[in-house]
Amino acid sequence: MSERKLLHGGDYNPEQWLDRPDILEQDITMMKQAHVNVVTLGVFSWSVMEPREGEYHFDWLEAIIHTLYANGISTILATPSAARPAWMAQKYPEVRRVRADRTRELFRRRQNYCYTSPLFRQKVRAIDEQLARRFGGDPAVILWHISNEMGGDCHCPLCQAEFRRWLQARYGSLDALNKAWNARFWSHDYTAWDQIESPAPQGEDAVQGLTLDWKRFVSDRHIDFFKFERDVIRGILPEAKFTTNLMYRFHDIDYHDLAKELDLVSWDNYPTWHKPSETVEQTALDTAMMHDLFYSLKGKPFLIMESSPSFTNWQPVTKQKKPGVAMLSALQGVAHGSDSVCYFQWRASRGAEEKFHGAVVGHDGRSDARTFRETAEVGAALEQLACAAGAGRPRQAAIVHDWPNMWALEGSSGPRNLGLGYWRELACHYNALARAGVTVDFIGQGSDLAGYSLVVAPMLYLLRDDFAEKLCLFARRGGTVVVSQWSGVVDESDLCRLGDTPYGLTELLGLRRAEIDGLYDEERRRCIPAPGAPLPLPVTQASVLCEVPALNETDPATPLLLYDEDYFAGAPAAAVHPCGDGRAYYLASRFTQDFYSALYAGLAKEAGLAPASPLPLPAGVLAARRDGLLFVQNCNPRPEKALDAVLPAYGTAVWQQDGGRLTRLL
Ligand code: GAL
Repeated sequence: MSERKLLHGGDYNPEQWLDRPDILEQDITMMKQAHVNVVTLGVFSWSVMEPREGEYHFDWLEAIIHTLYANGISTILATPSAARPAWMAQKYPEVRRVRADRTRELFRRRQNYCYTSPLFRQKVRAIDEQLARRFGGDPAVILWHISNEMGGDCHCPLCQAEFRRWLQARYGSLDALNKAWNARFWSHDYTAWDQIESPAPQGEDAVQGLTLDWKRFVSDRHIDFFKFERDVIRGILPEAKFTTNLMYRFHDIDYHDLAKELDLVSWDNYPTWHKPSETVEQTALDTAMMHDLFYSLKGKPFLIMESSPSFTNWQPVTKQKKPGVAMLSALQGVAHGSDSVCYFQWRASRGAEEKFHGAVVGHDGRSDARTFRETAEVGAALEQLACAAGAGRPRQAAIVHDWPNMWALEGSSGPRNLGLGYWRELACHYNALARAGVTVDFIGQGSDLAGYSLVVAPMLYLLRDDFAEKLCLFARRGGTVVVSQWSGVVDESDLCRLGDTPYGLTELLGLRRAEIDGLYDEERRRCIPAPGAPLPLPVTQASVLCEVPALNETDPATPLLLYDEDYFAGAPAAAVHPCGDGRAYYLASRFTQDFYSALYAGLAKEAGLAPASPLPLPAGVLAARRDGLLFVQNCNPRPEKALDAVLPAYGTAVWQQDGGRLTRLL
């Protein structure tokens, strides 16, 4: 991928059309019309590649790869491990996953192999070696795509044994494990390793240290499986580059850990556009948050591996993208750091689960269909924006999104079993920053804070000692820290911190958590600006959780907002505290969005964070930047003026930025 270009294409399944050479021919013609320059092949092709055990067929694949290449289309080659063939599932039951209730699945669907099974790994190794030998030196193959959307868990006996080995390596002794899990509670002390079982609906589901370790273990298993496949291919092709496709708000794998093993991050982007409960701008912000997360994982451009050119068939209702939204969605990815716009899928399949999923080419095969025309327009725009490929983004603000924290936070009983709305919390902070044109990264507790001016730690319930120290140091050196409710509560084993909390941050924040009150969904508590507060904030409403802080006796925080209702009226609901050359803000609850807008407008100014757009933009118009490029997108269903351009409904303008000079590129 040395030539500077944005990739445009997507998942292509010619194996479903091998008996229709006319269709395969039509595909090439239409791909050229749609400015396609890459396809992903092989994702679920195992039953064609190895129809019978040990009998490999790759001629069809080679012919297609070469015809495509002769027509200017490169290949991202996937290993087929995500869907194993029927003969294997029948002959070797151990490749089939066992569910949490200990039922072994029958042959079904996909992405449900046992990642521990030595037999499965042996079969994967064999086919991956074949692929690597056959296509390794091929200039048409530009990237290797390992498996597909890894996730889920397996509870088979092989995985149970592996889990116990993993625990032994983590804890060394049962004593240490029992301590970490507080196993004395309800008489749970384990006296032999093989008493430990993965969480199950009919088994253990109340030892939260166990549940958290199971999640860590499953995440490690997936990463181990990725590494296994990658290293099989790398053993034959030392120069090969690897990715696997990640997912929206994904829970099962710690992507910060996985990203260390990838050469390129890629993800599958399926926003629920036009859902009645959201404006297009809200859906765009929700999606931007994901793009920013995926950029941050390696701090470099990523790929959109899949997206729908029109609609999906698995969202609650199949909604067409309205005219212009395909372009908005595609260019949004590029604006936030993607070097590709790829689709699932090039051509709609005739039968089975996804026959009604959107595709660039529908069952009618027409190139005058709206989806096809709009896809071709996206392809042409990407050619105009080729200079964006490889461009980075500035470091300004970071929001902490840490997998073990999310797992532990969501796994506890209390303080609000109706849901803590973790992603909603992240969005409150993110949306305000993104609307202010600030570039936001998402970081884990292992990340480096250098280069950021603002670090936001929303609901950082599981706070590691080293990260608490990092936050304090960051503030002392001039950074701005924001910590929100329900932070610094437990350690890495989900054991409650003893003494004052937020653990490790009470000096930084100038206060401690005295109480926490949960609210029902319909409850709100009014909050008002504190008299003489140094930052102008609106009257707002607290929801979900209300922490009641007590200010430190020496060197206390300055209240910014006060609760105005309930028994805690008068207590600070938000406060600020100086720390060395920087300062720390504390938010005791979840407030209305206008509160975050006012807060972050003030903080961005204070921290010297320049907005992407040099001029203010109308509501619903969002800006993002990559080195030297400014993207402005109109999410409104009507034209809007932005800088020197009038953007049509859902329109995008792109400028090249040279110092203060802007030259319109698109
Ligand atoms: C993805 C998957 C694709 C296809 C697509 C449909 O999650 O990787 O194979 O199923 O969803 O939207």
